[in-house]
Amino acid sequence: MNNYWYIACRSGQLKSKPLARTILDEALVVFRSSDGNAAALIDRCAHRNMALSRGKVDGCGLRCSYHGWLWDGDGKCVDIPASCQGCETYAKLKVRAYPVIEKQGFVWVWMGAGEAKGEPIDFPNFDEPGWHHWVMERDFEGAAFHCVENFLDVPHTAHVHRGLFRGDESKEVEIEVTSGQDWISAQFLNEERMESLIGRLMFPDDGKIIHTDRFQLPYVTRVDYRITEKRQYIVMSQCTPVSAERTRVYTYMAYRFEPLGRLVRWVFEPLSHVILNQDVTIIREQTRDIARTGEARFVYWETDAIAKGIRDLLDGKSLADRPPERRKIKA
Ligand code: FES
Ligand SMILES: [Fe+2]
Repeated sequence: MNNYWYIACRSGQLKSKPLARTILDEALVVFRSSDGNAAALIDRCAHRNMALSRGKVDGCGLRCSYHGWLWDGDGKCVDIPASCQGCETYAKLKVRAYPVIEKQGFVWVWMGAGEAKGEPIDFPNFDEPGWHHWVMERDFEGAAFHCVENFLDVPHTAHVHRGLFRGDESKEVEIEVTSGQDWISAQFLNEERMESLIGRLMFPDDGKIIHTDRFQLPYVTRVDYRITEKRQYIVMSQCTPVSAERTRVYTYMAYRFEPLGRLVRWVFEPLSHVILNQDVTIIREQTRDIARTGEARFVYWETDAIAKGIRDLLDGKSLADRPPERRKIKA
């Protein structure tokens, strides 16, 4: 999944020290130069292969820890301390630089060849009046596909998160699946409040719930719950693939819950971590079980809602011409 923007780190994590990050098996160093701009380079000095993340930020660039060569945010060498020649002679020395965009508190890196295309996605309702959010960051021992599939998988909630998220009794719900070139979405048409701890907290007055699950390339998932204009929740995860078996997940949890407002977070944040931990565990177990039994094989059943569509999109198929489809599952 090259040629996409991925989150490398959160803005607040990028201070005076460079950060080592691996995305799609490529070792990167992310740093903030003295003018405040974030930059990303390959984490390997062109001189003798030292990791630049061992170095120090110095003015406009990053100084290697071995012989002190200084690399600017564009990957150009701008100082060789032991050289008697002028900087014009070593300006031809380069390390690979990655396009960077910093917005909404995240540092995004373009992982692709050539010029970056488009912009990173926006997190919805960011800092809008009445809305609040927090961010969770977790490493999953598993492929990004397994993570996105899990985040949009309703039936697992009754098992992995039993009692917490969904109760013992499942009800039949109708879903409508729609899709486009690089996304697929399932809307749950007649979902009722879940008889669980989360259900009772989120939806205290038994209103009708509009629930939508959405996947978007490369590895973005979004779950919306809307009861009224003033009571809405959005759980949006951006998965950064570290390697074939590791994924770093940044989850943006936004909510509007009037009249309580941000107080709600005191209850929901600890609960969200419990749920996330359960998913981290199940994905780790799944990954280890696949490794133990050989190549991964899948059965796609109608209960898997949009998992097959996600797989198709990741395999490069467009879903723009797929007609909307209705089916029923127990949730
Ligand atoms: S290895 Fe980086 S300056 Fe020599
Ligand atoms: Fe889960």
